[in-house]
Amino acid sequence: MQKLVIKGGHPLQGSVEAGGAKNAALPLMCASLLTSDEVVLRRIPALRDIRTTKQLLLQLGAQLDDFTPGMLRIKAREIADHTAPYELVKTMRASVMVLGPLLAREGKADVSLPGGCAIGARPIDQHLKGLAAMGAKIELDQGYIRARVKRLQGVDFTFDLVTVTGTENLILASALARGTTVLRNCAAEPEVVELAHVLNRMGAGVEGAGTDTVVIEGRESLGGAAHEIMPDRIEAGTYLMAGAITRGDVRVVGCESSHLNALLEKLDDAGLTVEADDDGVRVVSNGKIRSRNVETNPYPGFATDFQAQYMALMALGDSECGITENVFENRFMHAPELVRMGADIRISGRCARVIGVQTLSGAHVQATDLRASASLVLAGLAAEGITEIHRIYHLERGYERMPEKLSALGADIRRAKDDIV
Ligand code: EPZ
Repeated sequence: MQKLVIKGGHPLQGSVEAGGAKNAALPLMCASLLTSDEVVLRRIPALRDIRTTKQLLLQLGAQLDDFTPGMLRIKAREIADHTAPYELVKTMRASVMVLGPLLAREGKADVSLPGGCAIGARPIDQHLKGLAAMGAKIELDQGYIRARVKRLQGVDFTFDLVTVTGTENLILASALARGTTVLRNCAAEPEVVELAHVLNRMGAGVEGAGTDTVVIEGRESLGGAAHEIMPDRIEAGTYLMAGAITRGDVRVVGCESSHLNALLEKLDDAGLTVEADDDGVRVVSNGKIRSRNVETNPYPGFATDFQAQYMALMALGDSECGITENVFENRFMHAPELVRMGADIRISGRCARVIGVQTLSGAHVQATDLRASASLVLAGLAAEGITEIHRIYHLERGYERMPEKLSALGADIRRAKDDIV
């Protein structure tokens, strides 16, 4: 096991480049199962979740060529196996996104139920309800979803709630279904738009992605495509908040500012100077952080994936604010760890009250999930003294070379062998 050791108090200065978006790469890798032609993805981030998905694609019979850094060639000439096994799905719940493509192409899929995780129960009932509406026969058997269908049938389906991977799974399924599918109450995240764009490059007929209604004309087959993955907006926002919390001046190059509007407006409101142009976004601190309320919501609202990092920032706010987590039922696991560092945070249900303090103090803290890890890194960067973050495998699911990128911005941060956990 490894830990991160951070000596806080260094204002971050300089530029960092946004990598390819993890949450765009994952559905795109699943989309490659829809065709026997080659799909080429560039700017693939080197992350644990990507490695897990590669393993899954290999398990299903796809051929991979990942010898060029940042590039992944996938060719699912045939599907040799229809099972997404527990040992893979339990480490990465996004594996359920093979359900749609396997049913669409083969009419058969056995996918382990993902189970819950630190941030909530995270059921997939909407995925299954949509696939059943398209004619799939779905049984639950010893922790596995066993789905069978002769051919998926287009349907007019309304999600009971907004779900990102649920929307993506059903778009993937509809791409080869018979007839037209209308999906209502869809997620509008940029990663959904990216998936639709690449599917259309493969010959699919997807309209309306990025709105709450997506219409898909099913095809008999799809071809391959080559695509450069969009920049990771969550990674970008995390580094901007790292600059803000250390009272520094950080520019993230290569990110799409329009994907960050809700966060940038909030940072501006909190007293940071925000400059956005075609090449990226810069955030400059004047030393003060104004406490500002926030509520997380589906895109284009304030992303739940920024909530933990924002809470660390508000821990040093000039008064107090409320943070409401509307998307997940248990996404405050970072709060008690921040309190160990001197933050004053009180949780009541889905609301956190954050009373700003003058300083945070370094401490031993434990990561519980991906974005909670990022929150603890930000707090450690700003804290007085040494912070040791344990279980950093959570961090490495979604942030490529974070210690190296932060060191290049002036942080005193290093990996070390962890002999505590
Ligand atoms: C995606 O997860 C992202 N993951 C998450 O990012 C992100 O936090 C989340 O969307 C919300 O934006 C990927 O894209 C791989 P949801 P997803 O389905 O699709 C409930 C990260 O940090 N729900 O939009 O799993 C669910 O429990 C990760 O990179 C159902 O009840 O999230 C949650 O409360 C973490 N039934 C809410 O909807 C369902 O069938 C939103 O979940 C599906 C979801």
